[in-house]
Amino acid sequence: MDDKADQYSNTAMKKLISINDLKVGMFLEAEAVTEQKDGEEFNYLSALNATGIGGTGKRARLTGRMHEKVANNGGVYITSENLIESLRSTGLSLVTIDTEKGLDLPEDVKPLTDPNRKPPPEGRLVHFDEEIEQAREVRDSTTDTLKTALEDVAEGKEMDVQKVQEAGTVISESILRNVDAMVSLTRIKQFDPYTAMHSMNVCTLVTAMAMHDGTDPGQLPMITTAALLHDVGKTRVPLEILNKPGRFELHELQEMRKHASHSGDIMREDGSFSAEQISIAEQHHEMLDGSGYPAALRGDAIHYYARLTAVADVYDALTAKRVYKSAMPMYQALMKIHKGKGTEFDERGVDLFIKTLGLYPVGSLVEINTGEQAIVCEPNPNDSRKPVVALLTQPNKKPRVAPYVISLAVRSQADGREIVKVLDPDKIGADVEKLMADVDQRGERTDRKVRTS
Ligand SMILES: [Fe+2]
Repeated sequence: MDDKADQYSNTAMKKLISINDLKVGMFLEAEAVTEQKDGEEFNYLSALNATGIGGTGKRARLTGRMHEKVANNGGVYITSENLIESLRSTGLSLVTIDTEKGLDLPEDVKPLTDPNRKPPPEGRLVHFDEEIEQAREVRDSTTDTLKTALEDVAEGKEMDVQKVQEAGTVISESILRNVDAMVSLTRIKQFDPYTAMHSMNVCTLVTAMAMHDGTDPGQLPMITTAALLHDVGKTRVPLEILNKPGRFELHELQEMRKHASHSGDIMREDGSFSAEQISIAEQHHEMLDGSGYPAALRGDAIHYYARLTAVADVYDALTAKRVYKSAMPMYQALMKIHKGKGTEFDERGVDLFIKTLGLYPVGSLVEINTGEQAIVCEPNPNDSRKPVVALLTQPNKKPRVAPYVISLAVRSQADGREIVKVLDPDKIGADVEKLMADVDQRGERTDRKVRTS
């Protein structure tokens, strides 16, 4: 361990841990919250630097004396298994402990974020590289769940709603740990008849937008599940239309457009979804100016989260490759969405979307002021102009032997480098997924422990 890492470890008293590792004797970081309800005061315990969205939705009540203690101490000393159980039942899954005020983790249990590094950027509980593998697993497993659900509906069977709802919860949890990890994976597109992958992308983006919007975390799974199922109505569109490689004839287009109403019908018939969720799915092709379908609704008549879904849906469709069209580069699609701000698309929705993707979404090919070509590997939420990139070529465009990963935010690594333009992968004949895999396997990285971004 070098000096810099040492310096951090000495100050690393606060550790993010799974609630399963919380033990009697530990000190939980929390604040005491007072709320007024029907003229009465209620005192609650609110865990700090924590996440959790399942559970009973109940909150841990505090007596007056406890309330004062928590407020004075900045948390609560865990005195019993019962207390842990009641915290778990409120839905908490990750919590932060202070090891100076209570017991530490056993030696063999690692905290969820490396305390030897600088804390993660604002709004993130763990670093991007600490979440990305888990995000990939969540994405794979929930896409499978969704595929099965869509196939079941297509065959006239009932979908396993509980599984789909669980998928909504795990996606939301990953997004609450580090939103940028799941979002970075939305660049991956694949065509399947019922568009499970597209639905996965849209649902990730909408959940991330809602998170950036400050939505109550407890609300996220509701939105995530609705967005996951927004295109479930495609299962009622004849396959020969759904799979048609070219452009649609008018009657085919009309048939295709019915999918939004079908989505609403399927969810209504199932009986497990709220009116809000049905609106989100049914209205995802409505446009702010009334130019959308099926009901040509305008403005506020469209459900807020359906307006957010519309932005993510159009973006994912534009950046997807189809037999009849090439993929639009991400920055061009972002510009197109921005043009429609306030006319087709909800203004706030567009702002949230841009905040979600950042200036250079992961997978963007860029040119550096040195002439080198690079690919964006990790966003930088503190300064989106300076992400982590892998240098792919020399200044003379000759490929490097192995990609070299640097953070443009770290002066010693960037060495004066800045992004000057975005490149179109099609124009330079680049396969982004292949390049990203190459960076993963052969990329030479500087020591992560001393990274300051
Ligand atoms: Fe759709």
